[in-house]
Amino acid sequence: MAKYEYNLDKQHQKGKLHAIERINALCDKDSFYEIYSGARHTCTSFGMESKDIPYDGVITGFGTINGKKVAVYAQDFTVQGGSLGKVHGQKIAELIEMAIKAKCPVIGVNDSGGARIQEGVDALCGYGDLFYQNVRASGAVPQISIIAGPCAGGAVYSPGLTDFIFTIDSISQMFITGPKVVKAVMFMDITAEDLGGASIHSQKSGVAHYRCPTEKDCYDKVRKLLDYIPHYYGEEIVADAKFKFDEKKNAKKIGEIIPEESKKPYNMHDVINCVVDDDSFFEVMEEFSPNAITGFAKIEGKSVGIIGNNPAGWGGVLNCDASDKIARFVRYCDAYNIPLVNFVDVPGFIPGPQEEQKGIIRHGAKVIYAYSEATVPKVTIITRKSYGGAYIAMCSKHLGADFVYAWPKSEIAVMGAEGAIEIVFAKELKDPSRAAEVAQKKQEYITEIMTPKIAAQRDYISEIIEPSETRARIVASLNFLANKEENVMPCKKHGNIPL
Ligand code: HXC
Repeated sequence: MAKYEYNLDKQHQKGKLHAIERINALCDKDSFYEIYSGARHTCTSFGMESKDIPYDGVITGFGTINGKKVAVYAQDFTVQGGSLGKVHGQKIAELIEMAIKAKCPVIGVNDSGGARIQEGVDALCGYGDLFYQNVRASGAVPQISIIAGPCAGGAVYSPGLTDFIFTIDSISQMFITGPKVVKAVMFMDITAEDLGGASIHSQKSGVAHYRCPTEKDCYDKVRKLLDYIPHYYGEEIVADAKFKFDEKKNAKKIGEIIPEESKKPYNMHDVINCVVDDDSFFEVMEEFSPNAITGFAKIEGKSVGIIGNNPAGWGGVLNCDASDKIARFVRYCDAYNIPLVNFVDVPGFIPGPQEEQKGIIRHGAKVIYAYSEATVPKVTIITRKSYGGAYIAMCSKHLGADFVYAWPKSEIAVMGAEGAIEIVFAKELKDPSRAAEVAQKKQEYITEIMTPKIAAQRDYISEIIEPSETRARIVASLNFLANKEENVMPCKKHGNIPL
């Protein structure tokens, strides 16, 4: 029974659902129980003494999603702009603390003007408490943030500390400070949408993991994601029998994906979809850095983390953004014991001043660090190119992959044939009379150096397999590794990943 009049109209006029409607759209029917509805601010300055802010602007409680328990909060923008004061912050921080103890995910619906200006340092303290619990919960229970309105200041830093950020077209705006402050400080006119709309954060900044066309779609997607991830550290991944696999159809299709010509692109999504359970691939950060693919999928009904280079997106090259995207996803999966399956077709780390100045050394190092640190089952499939540092970085045997399989036409080398010939035979290339000799050397490089047979002879490749065998090999490898335990790190407090 409602204890107060929710201001539904005020939200609906803006094309948004009210906080309580959002919670009801997320949770299983009638499963939500509110707590601390009686909480009120204690601020007596700046006219606040006369303001009664119900539940101090945030509805908190617990319920179930797909039958499993969750902790949920939703900020109410109709109440002082969903701004966060000390009590508001405390409520969310305590909810997270409780979720850590109860071992369940935390889902926050954010719609807030940030720190409540009237409360001064007390409001900042509210954020401090919240951030502290966000960090404590990281790796213990999944934290999911939905950006369901204009979110500014601390209202974006808390989501920024969580695992997955969902945005909604025309509704989500995320920025450190809003357009008014940008105008005052930088004398710049910019719309809220251009500053921090849904597409900015899913395509350009890489802050958001999902962009949804509507609120309803957003809550459905959150519910779907919760079906793919363990709900707390240590929860066993169990098979979901509803996922199936059409062996015949996929085995035929997978053999036809790689083009004859080595330089021609193809879409790694096609390979992934032929290997994982039918219609089970659920991509994460789909629109950001399309040269890398990250997402969850099911194999024999069990969740796995999929990482791929995508030749259809900028040749599948590793740049700063792709490196961040891959490294963060690898670390998420490792934190929750989700096995990693990697599909490699990578021409290398991107060369040139632009990415060097952006810090490709620092960003690329994250991929090497994350894969080396991950102790979950790691299976790698090299479908075509695997050159240079990127061969090592993309979960090679040298970084602890348990099994590395290569398709017969794989090319594993320091670099491609053209680049190699230009360096090694620079003098001969200048002499047109030696063209035949150079062509012969190029062919030798392709057949004798780039061939996966060399890597297989050295034990760097577990087996060269036909594309049609890929699914069976992955299934067998993951089953073999099901109880994998690895404890190879020297004694230390924690490592120092390049950030
Ligand atoms: C107190 C606030 C508020 C705030 C909004 N309101 N933000 N009250 N503290 N931070 C109130 C408004 O006064 C208004 O009250 C109601 O909420 C709705 O706000 P509007 O401005 O009318 O809404 P809208 O035009 O939709 O604009 C939304 C907005 C804008 C873009 C979010 O309100 C805004 O720019 N707010 C400030 C954002 C910001 O710079 N925050 C940074 C805080 S610093 P009435 O009574 O009229 O309904 C921070 C640091 C934390 O968070 C620490 C981080 C490390």
